[in-house]
Amino acid sequence: MTGSTCMRSLLPLALIGLLLTASPVHSITHVCITAQSYGYDCQEFNVTTEDGYILGLQRIPRGRQCVGAANEHIPKKPILLQHGILMDGFTWVVSPPGEGLAYALADEGFDVWISNTRGTKSSRGHKLLDANVDAAYWGWTWVELAKFDLTANVNFVHNLTGQKVNYIAHSLGTLTALTAFSQHKLVDKVNAAALLSPIAYLKHMTNLVQLAAEFYGDELISMLGIPEFIPQSAAVDALLRTICLFPGLSCRDLVSVITGNNCCINPSILDLFLKYEPQSTSTKNIMHLAQMVRSGKLSMYDYGNGSANLKNYGVVEPPAYNLSNIPADLPLFLGYGGMDAISDVEDVERLIDELKLFHQEGKLTCQLFEDYAHADFVMATDAKERLHRPLIEFFNSNEHSN
Ligand SMILES: *[C@@H]1O[C@H](CO)[C@@H](O)[C@H](O)[C@H]1NC(C)=O
Ligand SMILES: *[C@@H]1O[C@H](CO)[C@@H](O)[C@H](O)[C@H]1NC(C)=O
Ligand SMILES: *[C@@H]1O[C@H](CO)[C@@H](O)[C@H](O)[C@H]1NC(C)=O
Ligand SMILES: *[C@@H]1O[C@H](CO)[C@@H](O)[C@H](O)[C@H]1NC(C)=O
Repeated sequence: MTGSTCMRSLLPLALIGLLLTASPVHSITHVCITAQSYGYDCQEFNVTTEDGYILGLQRIPRGRQCVGAANEHIPKKPILLQHGILMDGFTWVVSPPGEGLAYALADEGFDVWISNTRGTKSSRGHKLLDANVDAAYWGWTWVELAKFDLTANVNFVHNLTGQKVNYIAHSLGTLTALTAFSQHKLVDKVNAAALLSPIAYLKHMTNLVQLAAEFYGDELISMLGIPEFIPQSAAVDALLRTICLFPGLSCRDLVSVITGNNCCINPSILDLFLKYEPQSTSTKNIMHLAQMVRSGKLSMYDYGNGSANLKNYGVVEPPAYNLSNIPADLPLFLGYGGMDAISDVEDVERLIDELKLFHQEGKLTCQLFEDYAHADFVMATDAKERLHRPLIEFFNSNEHSN
């Protein structure tokens, strides 16, 4: 099919699309604005969680080319992309087609869904609470992100498409999935999961976050005195400056200090990324992660004293997760970086060892990318050949029969 006949056949559809979207008017997120600027169809949804948060969810339903349009009647495989901490769905669309994962998947025939964690730009709504005023809005850690956000998004996509959902996560999005799966949650609705820069243990993190957690503890963070952790705020800036005074630590290149030495990121894409990111999270979430750094364990939030834990959990110690309980036949792909300062190789290999104990051999794929650091997994210019190809192979070879 030539380009011109392709355009002609699409025209009536585009007109119908315009009429349909004429009313009601929804605000278009920076995720869809970016995808549309590259010629991709992009749809907006709101998903309400069981605890009242209203989350923005975007969908790129098909590839840019007409190729495959004849197969529109064949249901596409849904795939849900979950970003990491201090990021949002923009992560997946900031790199242009040829480099960005969302575009690669859409062009490969997947039905791409992009989630946004509570508190980020397109997910600040709540049935009762106001993110800008109510401290209660920020009373959560990744435990709630697994219990409510992940559940709501997977259920929504599963319900709308009538198919099991494929899942790709980066960074903190891997932790929410691992812990949910270990409790046998959502596994009946998830087909296969790829975890990039996986986080389960944070004992060997080698960056300023670790230093902050180890040497300053929660005091420095609670010094902020605010429930919303806004990376661009004066309070967080002052906090970082204090940490950067720590002997031997140079904070000149903050992105490298936090994520590790990324090998393959185009500086102009990073600048574009930093136009919208980093995004907010809750201070409580940061404190929970700091607890994981100090304890080396994967446990629920520690309220800091036995009686408060007893009240919340019925036991004095915060309950630990057991990742060996993840169903042994759930197809998993783990991609990790040799230069990653957050998902350190030692921590990831501890996770892999734990999974290997019980997981079926053919259902666990692990790949080390020697030169990748944390952000390379979402922005590397060479990801198409090195990362996207194995990911697509993984999902295609684990096609389900529902
Ligand atoms: C989603 O909710 C926000 C407010 O929380 C609103 O601005 C936006 O238009 C809604 N989008 C859709 C697609 O309903
Ligand atoms: C989606 O949800 C609706 C309403 O709850 C239900 O009637 C329908 O069967 C669900 N569809 C699928 C595919 O789960
Ligand atoms: C335990 O924590 C609760 C709530 O955070 C607080 O009210 C209580 O005083 C604390 N108890 C001790 C012994 O520190
Ligand atoms: C974790 O789960 C595995 C598999 O069910 C079990 O054999 C192991 O004893 C558990 N470990 C702990 C510490 O509970």
